[in-house]
Amino acid sequence: MRVAVTRSFPGNETDRLRAFHDVDIWPERRPLSSPELYRFAADADAAITMLTDRIDASFFDACPRIRVVANVAVGYDNIDVAEATRRGIPVANTPGVLTEATADLAWALILGAARRVVEAAEAVKAGRWVTWEPDFMLGVDVAGGVLGIIGMGKIGSAVARRASGFGMDVISHRPWALDDVLELSDVVSIHVPLTEETRGLIGERELSLMKRTAVLVNTARGPVVDQRALHLALREGWIGAAGLDVVVEEPIQKDDALLSLPNCIVLPHIGSATVATRRRMMALAVDNVLAALAGEPMPSVVNPEVL
Ligand code: DGY
Repeated sequence: MRVAVTRSFPGNETDRLRAFHDVDIWPERRPLSSPELYRFAADADAAITMLTDRIDASFFDACPRIRVVANVAVGYDNIDVAEATRRGIPVANTPGVLTEATADLAWALILGAARRVVEAAEAVKAGRWVTWEPDFMLGVDVAGGVLGIIGMGKIGSAVARRASGFGMDVISHRPWALDDVLELSDVVSIHVPLTEETRGLIGERELSLMKRTAVLVNTARGPVVDQRALHLALREGWIGAAGLDVVVEEPIQKDDALLSLPNCIVLPHIGSATVATRRRMMALAVDNVLAALAGEPMPSVVNPEVL
């Protein structure tokens, strides 16, 4: 059978596919446009896809042989799972293998935003480190504060575990109410998947409930936060700082207003970007495809009802 893999990954995990199937890997260092994707996977029996690929009814119409889609990400908001389910096609993701790497990056953003790490490093490069100053680059304490987790799944729990080393109290919007978490937390870290319920979950009203010194971190999906409201909140000091690994439109435009704010760190969606993690992600996607094409149980399928 033919397997279409839409990006090349570190490691040689796809070799295990080649032992059984014909494998084509998109050779370029950029995502495919939808027409390119449809041509590339037109006669494929399986697709290994990225969060940059839109997998919907048009894809399935253009690629009628597809029997399984394995997304190399834990999030799968790029896939119309209802449509795949309607057509009896299993969809797989990569839970677990990127939990720790993503939690580490959330902490990098928590500390980076609270202690103004990026802004301070840029000040040094710009020659603005003149002498030791009592009031230069003052941030807020992280240790001993309250960490609010929005979405206590695998990654949210891993972020919470790290908080014990900082002597923080952890609260979560279940069983607490979201408003209470926003009001009480010194740091709010977002870990919910993007769904119709979570789109715009943190908007103007929610931001206005937060402490004026609070740090907001998003390593989940950009559209969970209303970016226009966040810009306003950061500019007008409703909250202290933000650390974002994800934004609404990726990549963010270099003239985006968020990038002009000193109290906002924006990273290029690198939560899972370690060599070992990316290898594990592709390994799990390969396991899913091998299992699906062999008619065996898939390790991580998000719509098991089709099996
Ligand atoms: C995911 O897995 O959903 C991340 O956003 C990319 O690693």
